[in-house]
Amino acid sequence: MPPKLLSPLFPCLIFLTLLLLYLYSSLLSYHASQSPPHCNLFQGRWVLDPPRQPLYDHTCPFHRNAWNCLRNQRENMGLINSWKWVPESCALPRLDPARFLGLMRNRNIGFVGDSLNENFLVSFLCVLRVADMGARKWKRKGAWKGAYFPKFNVTVAYHRAVLLSKYEWQPKQSTVHNQDGLKGIYRVDVDIPADDWVNIADFYDVLVFNTGHWWGYDKFPKETPLVFYREGEPIFPPIGMLDGLKVVLENMVSYIQKEVPSRTLKFWRLQSPRHFDGGDWNQNGSCLLNEPLKEFQLDLWFDPRNNGVNKEARQLNHLIEEALLGTEIQLLDLTHLSEFRADAHPAIWLGKKDAVSIWGQDCMHWCLPGVPDTWVDILSELIRYSLETG
Ligand SMILES: *[C@@H]1O[C@H](CO)[C@@H](O)[C@H](O)[C@H]1NC(C)=O
Ligand SMILES: *[C@@H]1O[C@H](CO)[C@@H](O)[C@H](O)[C@H]1NC(C)=O
Repeated sequence: MPPKLLSPLFPCLIFLTLLLLYLYSSLLSYHASQSPPHCNLFQGRWVLDPPRQPLYDHTCPFHRNAWNCLRNQRENMGLINSWKWVPESCALPRLDPARFLGLMRNRNIGFVGDSLNENFLVSFLCVLRVADMGARKWKRKGAWKGAYFPKFNVTVAYHRAVLLSKYEWQPKQSTVHNQDGLKGIYRVDVDIPADDWVNIADFYDVLVFNTGHWWGYDKFPKETPLVFYREGEPIFPPIGMLDGLKVVLENMVSYIQKEVPSRTLKFWRLQSPRHFDGGDWNQNGSCLLNEPLKEFQLDLWFDPRNNGVNKEARQLNHLIEEALLGTEIQLLDLTHLSEFRADAHPAIWLGKKDAVSIWGQDCMHWCLPGVPDTWVDILSELIRYSLETG
């Protein structure tokens, strides 16, 4: 090529390259604002958006009475459901039940863990039922609760396994009096999943795990402690509760990696926080708030450094995040968005007259309809994205 020709062409080429680079990067940022992997659905704020109506009411047959705040006549349910979660850099569409069930046709979704996952499930079932009123209860394969959606051949169910690992009560053998007041132990086999979910690896196409609020001394006080076993033998020297959780997480995560097929979408939801104000659940703690907390209040309520009664979620999340590093299990970080919602627990509206005097207020589970409906929007968005992009 003669050098004479090169000179007028050169600036032209530079210009073209720059133009292409510009178009490409604006395309990228357009996508970044649209799709979940590039857009963080867990960071954002709650915005009051009044004409918002929940998709279901107190008549949904999958409700659990204590969380059915409409039936239990909590007054401000309209307000609770008028807040909308708005992620920082993208829109979070509300789940379209018919479209989602269509996408899930011939597929199944399973939740495994504690009652906060059951809370999640109930919301999911009630929302999905809008698109298939023929939905019926389903409790096979060790499921605690679930539903089958016949129009779409979809099953969504919850397997109760509060510690994930297998555990069982063993009363004290010896009748010899001992001063520590030990009544027996709960034996935890850190390397064996609880029977409730041991045979489900092939059935579900999506699995959502959690564990958290059972790892406390209120559930397992020193008279009836957790004692950890591995390969059938007590771990020696004995380990405490948080170290026990660490070992259980390591073992359960590696079990999931090994036994659950890689085509199965796997999520691990972080804990939603409790909102006890003025004391713990057994110390008259309450959550009679009328609106979400403000951003600046969150650290005061939840930072473990403040040693408040609600520090547990952040504390445990840290261990869970560590255990999931380098795995294909996606983190469902519902903690931050739920931290705001001190206004959305069943509190004293539990449906039974003396429930509060016996159990205290419920500032841990969530009113339905309510905040778990937003968890459902987020989970379904992530499932949709994963299925559509293969
Ligand atoms: C329903 O879905 C299951 C998978 O969960 C599949 O094995 C079965 O063939 C499906 N049934 C029909 C009638 O399509
Ligand atoms: C809780 O409140 C009741 C009734 O007001 C009171 O009798 C009881 O002592 C309180 N308990 C604690 C732990 O503060």
